[in-house]
Amino acid sequence: MKDLPRSFNRLFILITLMALVFWAWAIYQTDWSLTNVIRLIIFGFLAVVSESLPVSLPKGGYVTVSYAVFICGVILFPVGVSLSVAAIGGLFVCGKEVRGEPFYKRVFNASQFVVSLGAACLVLRITRISFSIAPVTIIIYLAAAFSYMLTNMTVVAIALGSLQGKSPWLIWIENIRWSIPNFMSLAPLGLLMALVYRNDGELGLFLLFIPLFISRHAFQLYIEMRENYLNTVEALVQALEAKDTYTSGHSSRVGKLAVTMGEAMAMSEEKIVFLKYAAVLHDVGKIGVSETILNKEEKLLDSEWEAIRSHPVIGQTIIKGIKFLFDIGLVVRHHHERYDGKGYPDGIPGEEIPLESRIIAIADTYDAITSDRSYRQGSTHDEAIQELQRVAGSQLDPELVELFCKVVTNELVQKVSTDQAQKT
Ligand SMILES: [Fe+2]
Repeated sequence: MKDLPRSFNRLFILITLMALVFWAWAIYQTDWSLTNVIRLIIFGFLAVVSESLPVSLPKGGYVTVSYAVFICGVILFPVGVSLSVAAIGGLFVCGKEVRGEPFYKRVFNASQFVVSLGAACLVLRITRISFSIAPVTIIIYLAAAFSYMLTNMTVVAIALGSLQGKSPWLIWIENIRWSIPNFMSLAPLGLLMALVYRNDGELGLFLLFIPLFISRHAFQLYIEMRENYLNTVEALVQALEAKDTYTSGHSSRVGKLAVTMGEAMAMSEEKIVFLKYAAVLHDVGKIGVSETILNKEEKLLDSEWEAIRSHPVIGQTIIKGIKFLFDIGLVVRHHHERYDGKGYPDGIPGEEIPLESRIIAIADTYDAITSDRSYRQGSTHDEAIQELQRVAGSQLDPELVELFCKVVTNELVQKVSTDQAQKT
């Protein structure tokens, strides 16, 4: 832990001490009858299994169902049992995801589970409710689960912020996106678990966990399938860039520029992913065009232009075959349409051209102007902006060009000032 930032070490000590105090107090408060010891063994085991079978998310991080196990414990059992279940879940987690990880991570995780569950316990203690499924009681259970989630998110955001040198507030805001659906699905599951365990004991709990683990397996397969799609996309782009030596890196640069535009337009995460795939794949149809034509430096013959102009339609045909990318085909087909309707392959004008195609057309043009070719050096950013503004309204969507120029210029200014700050 010597290499870790001092702010993280301070947080680690604070959270661990808080957890130890809570835990010791909870153990002291609890009547350790045989029933409570058996509950601790069963739920401690469930917590370890749940923590050890996480599902990795595409953008990093993972989810587990241990949150539901903890909430069930806090609803049903004395505070000493429920906090011990959380501590066991954090300390004895096993599996490939945690193999080789330093021990302090387990201690920190276990501590933040105990502190977060302590917050949930506090809500239940203040309201002094007994277990039932009356509407008011359910609201209080959800409030307890919510206070667990808020405490957990806050501690994790501060920890990640100090480890990565980022703003904890920004991490917190970013995490809300996945924490809310997590809460919506797992908090009621915790309540359901409590009901089943109260009515049907261990057998009921066992029967409930079977479909839960099957769902987990299905979700894991879905995540893996998405990764495979992404690998397919990357393989297609690599095949393309191996053919056309002068456009190496073009697709990924257009992808990045398109994502910047999507973010500036406050598109949903799903739409941005769609736009990114379409942008990265926009020229995939060039696979169907002869290398001699693609790499020709002299003036092209009419028939050769014709071959090059066929690449959007070829691209759409290739993409149509991949179910996941089916909708992207149309965007790829229209990325050479012009705003004035004089483009190809269909000559459709203005907003008849899909929005994503219009964005990609701008990013494509900008990257083509600023990139080096064997026969000429790439233009500067300012020259490219001038050129984009010149063709706005005829070739490109004028409103989108205006936004693009603003966003890309800002990004460049930021990059330059960051580079300068790093040098000094
Ligand atoms: Fe193209």
